[in-house]
Amino acid sequence: QPVGHAMTPPMGWSSWNAFRVDITEKKVMDSAQVIVDSGLAAAGYRSINIDDGWWLKRRTSDGRLLVRTGLFPSAHVGAGKDSSLRPFTDRIHAMGLKAGIYTDIGRNACSQAYDADSPNLPEGTHAEREVGLMGFMKQDVALFFGEWNFDYLKVDGCGLSSYGRDRPHVASGQYREYKPTIVEGSINQSDIEGTKKLYAGLKQALHEVRPRGDYTLSVCLWGTVNVRSWGQDYGSMWRTSRDIWKGFAQMVHNFDTVATREFYAGPGRWNDPDMLEIGNGDFGDSHLLEARTHMGLWAIMAAPLMIGTDLSKASPAVIDILKAPEVVAINQDPAGHQGVLAYADSDRQIVVKTLADGRKAVLLFNRTGAPAKFTLTAEHLKMDATTPIALRDAWARADAGSFTGKREFELQAREALLFTATGKHVLPKGYFVSERPG
Ligand code: DGJ
Repeated sequence: QPVGHAMTPPMGWSSWNAFRVDITEKKVMDSAQVIVDSGLAAAGYRSINIDDGWWLKRRTSDGRLLVRTGLFPSAHVGAGKDSSLRPFTDRIHAMGLKAGIYTDIGRNACSQAYDADSPNLPEGTHAEREVGLMGFMKQDVALFFGEWNFDYLKVDGCGLSSYGRDRPHVASGQYREYKPTIVEGSINQSDIEGTKKLYAGLKQALHEVRPRGDYTLSVCLWGTVNVRSWGQDYGSMWRTSRDIWKGFAQMVHNFDTVATREFYAGPGRWNDPDMLEIGNGDFGDSHLLEARTHMGLWAIMAAPLMIGTDLSKASPAVIDILKAPEVVAINQDPAGHQGVLAYADSDRQIVVKTLADGRKAVLLFNRTGAPAKFTLTAEHLKMDATTPIALRDAWARADAGSFTGKREFELQAREALLFTATGKHVLPKGYFVSERPG
């Protein structure tokens, strides 16, 4: 039984790639407004997710998490009252959207506030810095999904261990990345059983607040903790690699980490190569070809589509790439198959995804910085080589002719073409069809 209701890959917007810890309520709301006004919400991008940077500290008297109300003014609900993100989620819900929040499975977290509201930080006490779920599982989950009424939770893993100890100290505005302190009871990131136990506690806490399973849980762990083999028992999605970045090579690396993991994915459980960089850096306005490549790769891999750009500054061209209806439809296909490599060498890949209605989606990806020739064959598509195969260009939303047996293509540097293909299926050698007993 899959966890949560993510029967197709989750879609939305997250603050992290756009703003890092320089997050404000205004920035989040501005992008949320564009989500609605531009038709992105209608295209399926519904979840507006606050990533790292929202908390001030954990109040030691009762363990309540406090919000940085200087950045989230609506969370200041009156003198003497507890800060609350409920006004934020109410506004998001009133726009017809869903709301997401961020925490950590360990005791500590990736970042730590040290603003003026909190004069004793960053020295602070360990207890104030322990903003992660460990030790506060039920209380925090009840706060996020009960009192604050969020729909989506991303759970990071910085607080698990010595992870991050030697990370560069990033100062950013009134915030800095925090080097987690190993405190008593912390476990290591490679402690698979210990980590699973924490997730089992989280699942139980979620069940108590949301017994119908109406939530999305994003597990932000990868590497030695081997999350690919157990993530589906707890999360709607789990990361397959370290953080994406707005450079082309990093995006390709993240794609590579999902490219052979199709058996782990399916309705309710998705491999997550991380959030989109479309609109940023190598995928910005002067690189629309690369932006389409990034989008095409995530679409065919049935990867979550979390927009990571400042939409208040995004061009219509960038928004059109994110919205592309036939590309999004390939990602959101109800059968929930991840694409499978049908051909690969060091320069070129052909990925095929079986769709619910029997068509196949096919992506040709030129990884190199120079034009490259491709031959797409009926065999790549597991289709009959003597029957015409009709192609439709998912970007142009137009028929792209048909071929019998094979067809040649020449792709530009870094280009990915994306088609749907209709033809006669053949079963691969070695398969047989048996009659179902009456
Ligand atoms: C690491 C995660 O992988 C990122 O997506 C982001 O959430 C940062 N932590 C925030 O500190």
